[in-house]
Amino acid sequence: MKWFSLLLQAGLSQAAIRFACSQVSIQRLDPLVEPGQIPSAHVHQIVGGNAFNATMTGDIGEQASCTTCTYSEDFSNYWTAVMYFRHENGSYKRVPQYANAQLGYEGRDDPSIKGGMTVYYTQKDFWNNGLNETRITAFPPGFRMTVGNPGTKSISGPGAQPGLGYTCLQTILTRGNETRDFPKEPCPAGIMAIHHFPACWDGKNVDSPDHQSHMFDNTIGAFREAPPCPESHPVRVPQVAYETMWDTTVFKDMWPKDGSQPFVWSFMDSKGYGTHADYLFGWKGDSLQRVMDDNCFFHGCGSPGKQGILKTQTVEEMNKCSVKDMIEEDTEGWLDELPGYPMG
Ligand SMILES: *[C@@H]1O[C@H](CO)[C@@H](O)[C@H](O)[C@H]1NC(C)=O
Ligand SMILES: *[C@@H]1O[C@H](CO)[C@@H](O)[C@H](O)[C@H]1NC(C)=O
Ligand SMILES: *[C@@H]1O[C@H](CO)[C@@H](O)[C@H](O)[C@H]1NC(C)=O
Ligand SMILES: *[C@@H]1O[C@H](CO)[C@@H](O)[C@H](O)[C@H]1NC(C)=O
Repeated sequence: MKWFSLLLQAGLSQAAIRFACSQVSIQRLDPLVEPGQIPSAHVHQIVGGNAFNATMTGDIGEQASCTTCTYSEDFSNYWTAVMYFRHENGSYKRVPQYANAQLGYEGRDDPSIKGGMTVYYTQKDFWNNGLNETRITAFPPGFRMTVGNPGTKSISGPGAQPGLGYTCLQTILTRGNETRDFPKEPCPAGIMAIHHFPACWDGKNVDSPDHQSHMFDNTIGAFREAPPCPESHPVRVPQVAYETMWDTTVFKDMWPKDGSQPFVWSFMDSKGYGTHADYLFGWKGDSLQRVMDDNCFFHGCGSPGKQGILKTQTVEEMNKCSVKDMIEEDTEGWLDELPGYPMG
């Protein structure tokens, strides 16, 4: 379904941002769940600001000096696990990522965006920001959260939220038909992993021991309007969502002869139920609140190289920002084992 082009024609929407962040790092660090631990349990792919490190405290918007995101005041970090291909012979290779559709200058496609993710901050739903109904409060400095749980082993278990899933891409623009586990057949344009974060905050805590209970998840998935926030978590914050385009097509000639699906998350999950994502707020000053209070929409808020209400940078500048590897290990090429999972 080509929802995105339909949407642009309809021109109904207000104040939602959708933008690219190219890859800033791929390594075993997790400042949110395993602060200070070098290396962390499994490999992550990270986008956003260059303040990313084993430990991150304070106002990240004041600490980073560059970002891989289109919006140059967004020094947040966004990350997920990494998808690997498991060859029949037992070796693993990282699945490359590619840039989503309509993320370039004025919303054109730009395949020169280096891997990474698409990030959304929406308001009421995909179509409407609910302006003058509920004011959306931007996150405060230090704010962080996770969604999903690598320990989720079945589809009905805790953490099996409707905001988490996969789309088997027939083309770059396929939407709908989300599944809660990895697609079972080869997907002609790869696999899109989808993570919608909760959007109701307790209004007090920038984090919580499980990194989730300061938030309430009323997301019903697919960018549809969520029910109101409960009294326990009354503050409506932006609905943050990630889309990650995994180019599984490079392995199409190596599909296992027994027909089993060969993709596995870096935490050794071949079903995909344990999909999860991490968010660490780092917008500079009031930049996120400023755009949430506006009625711009997607690339109308600014696109790579074209200013809007938000300051932007070019794709070349985005791709230049990086974080150095702090762990000496291979995450690329053919590997005998998944990093952190000796002979798993
Ligand atoms: C990461 O943290 C370490 C220890 O606090 C520090 O020495 C190092 O400079 C930091 N690296 C970056 C890239 O900020
Ligand atoms: C598995 O196959 C890949 C692709 O042909 C190859 O590069 C790799 O070395 C093989 N691994 C083993 C253990 O034979
Ligand atoms: C929404 O609020 C803004 C700012 O107060 C005001 O300018 C605008 O007219 C309002 N829009 C509607 C549809 O009520
Ligand atoms: C969902 O999958 C079914 C069965 O494969 C297909 O007929 C339908 O067109 C798909 N819907 C969308 C929105 O892609």
